[in-house]
Amino acid sequence: MSRKKISLIGGGQIGGNLALLCAQKELGDVVIYDIPNAEGMIKGKALDISQLTPLDGHDSNIVGSSNPEDLKDSDVVIITAGIPRKPGMNREDLLDINIKIITDVANNVKKYAPNAFVIVLSNPIDAIVYSFYKVSGFTKNKVVGMAGVLDSTRFKTFLAMETGYSKQDIQCMVLGGHGDTMVPITRLATIGGIPAEELISKERLDSIVERTRFGGGELVKLFGNGSAYYAPAASAIEMAESYLKDKKRVLPCAALCEGEFDVNGFFIGVPTVIGSNGIEKILEFNLKSSEKTELEKTLNAVKKTVKETKL
Ligand code: LAC
Repeated sequence: MSRKKISLIGGGQIGGNLALLCAQKELGDVVIYDIPNAEGMIKGKALDISQLTPLDGHDSNIVGSSNPEDLKDSDVVIITAGIPRKPGMNREDLLDINIKIITDVANNVKKYAPNAFVIVLSNPIDAIVYSFYKVSGFTKNKVVGMAGVLDSTRFKTFLAMETGYSKQDIQCMVLGGHGDTMVPITRLATIGGIPAEELISKERLDSIVERTRFGGGELVKLFGNGSAYYAPAASAIEMAESYLKDKKRVLPCAALCEGEFDVNGFFIGVPTVIGSNGIEKILEFNLKSSEKTELEKTLNAVKKTVKETKL
């Protein structure tokens, strides 16, 4: 079996961590792609990570390139290209500039890697993944936005901090758009299978939910000049790995809904099954009326941003 090929479009902080995780998990050979101005930086990151692989006993090849032809025949493409937030900005404030970038990227991916499974991280994710889908003409099972995995791992982290119990035993699900209106489904948060609502007071849970919603912003504020990168990279790798290994993980991701959860024609965070056919399924379940109301609210926020893409 030949080695898989993973192309990372955008060689910034997330891109570098994606390359590192791909190498350490031996997911395949890696191309870090960025604009010519960033060529030295991505070639340097690729070489630096290459020099780490003998220490791990791993054999992946990692290269940096600003030539789109090097994306040829990628199995997975992970897109982080675009600018990140600065303190005080919403993810939506990035739309104008990131939409231009994603249009170029989508044309290149369509040309050189038409069979890839594409994971989009650039913000505002729900509108940018929609734009990629529209411009590339890819089928809906091959295009997905990363957000729910990240928002859920943040929720889990805060629950673990609150209780002191193992993160391994915490399950959570965050649905909706990757913005301040995201919908952490509190009743489905469990610790060792026990509803978190039975172990943590309502007041504390509410504040954990609030911290989750603004989890990205908390980091933007701390960094002062950029957004999170370790957990976003690891979240995208979970999705890529499930595809490459046909694991059929059940992960909340921004997928194109066509009627599921009463959402039609938009990408929004829903529980998906990721296997060798990409997004193989959206798992629908009954929402409570308050959750439905929250999902409508987040959908309206996503619709508003998507409308601004004019696509
Ligand atoms: C965050 C960015 C990646 O939530 O959207 O940290």
